[in-house]
Amino acid sequence: MDIDTTFHVTWTTLSFVAVALALSVLRLYQLAIPKPIPGIPYNKTSKKLLGDVPAIVEHMAKTEGGTFVTYILKSMESLDSPLIQIFIRPFGKPHLVLGDYPEAYDILMRRREFDRSPTLGDLVKGLTPDLHIHLKTNDTWKAQRRLIQDLMTPSFLHNVAGPVLYQNLGLLIDLWRMKSHIANGRPWKAADDINQMALNGLTGFSFGEDFKHSAIKPALLAVQGMDEEALAIIRRKGPDEFVEFPKGQESTALRAIRELTETVGEVQGNPVPALTWAYVTRKPRIRKAIRIKEDCIEKELMNGVQRWEETSGRVIKSAVDQMIVREKRLAEKEGRTPNFFSRVMIDECGLKIFGFILAGHETTSTALNWTLKYLADYPSIQSELREALRRAFPTLGYSGRSPSINEITSTSIPYLDAVIEEILRCAGAIPVVDRVATADTELLGHHIPKGTVVTCLVTGPSLLSAAFDVEISRRSPTSQSDVKEGRHRSWDPAGISRFNPDRWIIRGNGNGDEIEFNPTAGPQLAFGLGTRGCYGKRLVYLEMRIFLTLILWNFELLPCPPAVSTYHAKLIASNEPTHTYVRLREISREKTIN
Ligand code: HEM
Ligand SMILES: *[C@@H]1O[C@H](CO)[C@@H](O)[C@H](O)[C@H]1NC(C)=O
Ligand SMILES: *[C@@H]1O[C@H](CO)[C@@H](O)[C@H](O)[C@H]1NC(C)=O
Ligand SMILES: *[C@@H]1O[C@H](CO)[C@@H](O)[C@H](O)[C@H]1NC(C)=O
Repeated sequence: MDIDTTFHVTWTTLSFVAVALALSVLRLYQLAIPKPIPGIPYNKTSKKLLGDVPAIVEHMAKTEGGTFVTYILKSMESLDSPLIQIFIRPFGKPHLVLGDYPEAYDILMRRREFDRSPTLGDLVKGLTPDLHIHLKTNDTWKAQRRLIQDLMTPSFLHNVAGPVLYQNLGLLIDLWRMKSHIANGRPWKAADDINQMALNGLTGFSFGEDFKHSAIKPALLAVQGMDEEALAIIRRKGPDEFVEFPKGQESTALRAIRELTETVGEVQGNPVPALTWAYVTRKPRIRKAIRIKEDCIEKELMNGVQRWEETSGRVIKSAVDQMIVREKRLAEKEGRTPNFFSRVMIDECGLKIFGFILAGHETTSTALNWTLKYLADYPSIQSELREALRRAFPTLGYSGRSPSINEITSTSIPYLDAVIEEILRCAGAIPVVDRVATADTELLGHHIPKGTVVTCLVTGPSLLSAAFDVEISRRSPTSQSDVKEGRHRSWDPAGISRFNPDRWIIRGNGNGDEIEFNPTAGPQLAFGLGTRGCYGKRLVYLEMRIFLTLILWNFELLPCPPAVSTYHAKLIASNEPTHTYVRLREISREKTIN
């Protein structure tokens, strides 16, 4: 072959390769650019390779308090539609966002062709790959849920979880009493205390009150140990200046568990969660935390089995104990010997327990964070609730002891229920609930291909702002009959965004203060709905009940300086407020619990 031919062959090959390359790039590009579902509105400027991502980033950078969710709300408003599509992953399908309660209710409660989408589970997948949150709603999921259903029964909650939560909140009250005495009317940052207390609540629920790691006790010791110099610095501060308190030494086990719950924040909003998890869980710090957490849980399980053997399973003090009893019963039913010490049992329990902590920690502390904010900012609601509590426990007197856990769980206080429901409605601790279409279907009159993710907004239209007008013929048949037969729930658009517990109250006809709590007064999606709704919600209601009662019984929450009274939220794992400060005035002087 002479040079000329070689050149020619190379040239031909090269041009061939070049054309092939160009074609595949083009093909890739075509695959990657967003492909909208016909008829569903979207922002035309997003039809580029990166879809809505640049606009989301810009929105978050430019808008004070801007998050992914505020971006969606803004787009929905400007596109003027209760169903829009956004593009957040190249090569991915469009992502639908639904801002309409009746259709969301229908999807979550009744429509079998919508099931759990991976989006929610992705947030915890790297740390608890086997949690039932990841499963489709099938027999495996049912069996998993059955294993832990006893933990949310009234009897477990009242007899086991309640007393532990109460004990733990009592410690917080003692800590805050000490802090408010020192701060003497000045505000301080409550976030860490709330965060630690929520963690303690979950470890208490999981391992019982004998769990030796407390998050609040070290803080109590540290504040008790403040020296004269530290106190003098505080006394010189102005009345609106923040007081800083020492935090105390956190135990290694609790720090490990807390650090792991915080990794969830690194994954939130990330387009490729699996990669992020692979990266996060390889960090030496996180690997070490995982090991410490596992040792700690395994030890608690061993303790549980020992307790079971010593008491023949008669004493149940924690979720661990309950799961051991369950395994015993299951084994009996299946005619086998229980496998208490098997690796499988230990791993399974351990993962479930840790799953509760992961799913519950950020969300619960966020809800409690917002609780403090609303109470301080709505003094008339705060005093109405305090009065309702006083009336519910008339024998305790104005400054006597706090209500006991039994008194709290066995007394009906409609206004308290209403305040809790309203905090959950307004806080939107988890702002979206996802489902995926498992078959081709329809939504608001549009064809939706199998595999499409539908994000139902927990905030926004119908929930916290006026609902869209949806022509009834576009609704699903079941949703249409709800509307026709007057079963569909809606809030009065006037005042829908206001924090107003009264919306959950039915006033009696005439004779004075007879009021009733109506949990179905209007739209609420804080815990999702239906079969796949939040597993832990009863625990959350119980904790908020104890929290509100003890806090209001013992303190008056005063408004904080304007700079920290904003309603901005940053979306970490959940929708948490960026400022949580308290300014307290003590009411009763006796110790909460002895
Ligand atoms: C204020 C606190 C909490 C909020 C706002 C919250 C909210 C939610 C929401 C919106 C969902 C999705 C529901 C759906 O898709 O329909 C969910 C699921 C779940 N939550 Fe919670 N949650 C909270 C606390 C907890 C706690 C304390 C636990 C554990 C004890 C927990 C365990 C779970 C689990 C396991 C799931 C998945 C259920 C399944 O897929 O079957 N949550 N939660
Ligand atoms: C579409 O996105 C662009 C860029 O973020 C924004 O300026 C515009 O207002 C959006 N239009 C609509 C109708 O939402
Ligand atoms: C249930 O679905 C999961 C995936 O979400 C799958 O791994 C499991 O095998 C399914 N179980 C049954 C009984 O079909
Ligand atoms: C509560 O709010 C504070 C901001 O003051 C934040 O730092 C903290 O992480 C929040 N806690 C949670 C997990 O909601």
